[in-house]
Amino acid sequence: MNFTGSNILSIKQFERNDIDKIFAVADTMKPYAQRKRATRVLDGAILGNMFFEASTRTRVSFGSAFNLLGGAVRETTGFESSALSKGESLYDTARVLSGYSDVICMRHPEAGSVSEFAKASRVPVINGGDGANEHPTQALLDLYTIRNELQSKGREVDGLRIAMIGDLKHGRTVHSLSQLLCLYNNIHVSLVSPKELAMPEYLIESLREAGHEVTISEELTTHISHVDIAYSTRIQEERFQSKEEADLYRGRFRLNQSIYTQYCEPNTVIMHPLPRDSRAEANELDSDLDQNPNLAIFRQADNGVLVRMALFALVLDVAHLVEKSAYDVPWFPGHRD
Ligand code: NCD
Repeated sequence: MNFTGSNILSIKQFERNDIDKIFAVADTMKPYAQRKRATRVLDGAILGNMFFEASTRTRVSFGSAFNLLGGAVRETTGFESSALSKGESLYDTARVLSGYSDVICMRHPEAGSVSEFAKASRVPVINGGDGANEHPTQALLDLYTIRNELQSKGREVDGLRIAMIGDLKHGRTVHSLSQLLCLYNNIHVSLVSPKELAMPEYLIESLREAGHEVTISEELTTHISHVDIAYSTRIQEERFQSKEEADLYRGRFRLNQSIYTQYCEPNTVIMHPLPRDSRAEANELDSDLDQNPNLAIFRQADNGVLVRMALFALVLDVAHLVEKSAYDVPWFPGHRD
């Protein structure tokens, strides 16, 4: 695809060579994300960061990624503090905000809303999550993480064995990741969820049509025993009718160090898009896994900055110019290696 000026709305818009391109640019962003180098390539550009649903890392990492390229960030958070709560249409909001920004990232609770917004926007729009539908940049950073974790073990994405665990019905990250895996070969996917929270049928069909082997189960331990990646997810409480209904499923698929040691192959990588629900009744990934070197959740979150920098650089067509305005930073860079 031609990235320049394009919206990033869905994984469906990518081919495999597009992913290679994003990852190649993301690799070059490491010195900037690690604060060893700084660049002013987006000096003067403005990101409109519009988050109409709860977010911490997606919103902040989009903003940091844009700042790290030298651009400025303007934010709206929450429905109540925006004119959408006064009955303004997405069309009007998009027409107005695209006059104030060079690119817009948006999260919204309704499936399809970000695409609708993009139709009226005069600048590129990046989907930061639209309801239970898609979260394409999360899938990209997830696959970037999978690629890196496997690479360090001498493996590649083709032939991957992955278990996706938890609320696969409402989890937009696993929806986008499943679509992304369809671009690769010979993947074994175990879908572990309560029956009521199963992966939507159309995504299972897409995986099978791509030639992948898909198993479906309500049982965790046997299905994490032969995988390279165990990808855990949160019960998406905000998509249920009530908290009580969500509570029925909370804590079903807890993973801790003793289960890991007993059932997982050595070096099985643990991922989670975060936030993990660490309340006692849920405890999706126990904190006793924090010392496990195969817990990749924080590397995964760090990779979000690299992938989002790459997307901005490609969409605004400056990837080839980043290094031209770059310099070494004088300040203490923290410990990010
Ligand atoms: C995810 C989301 O918002 O879909 N979080 C994120 O963006 N990293 C997953 C979740 O909230 O459970």
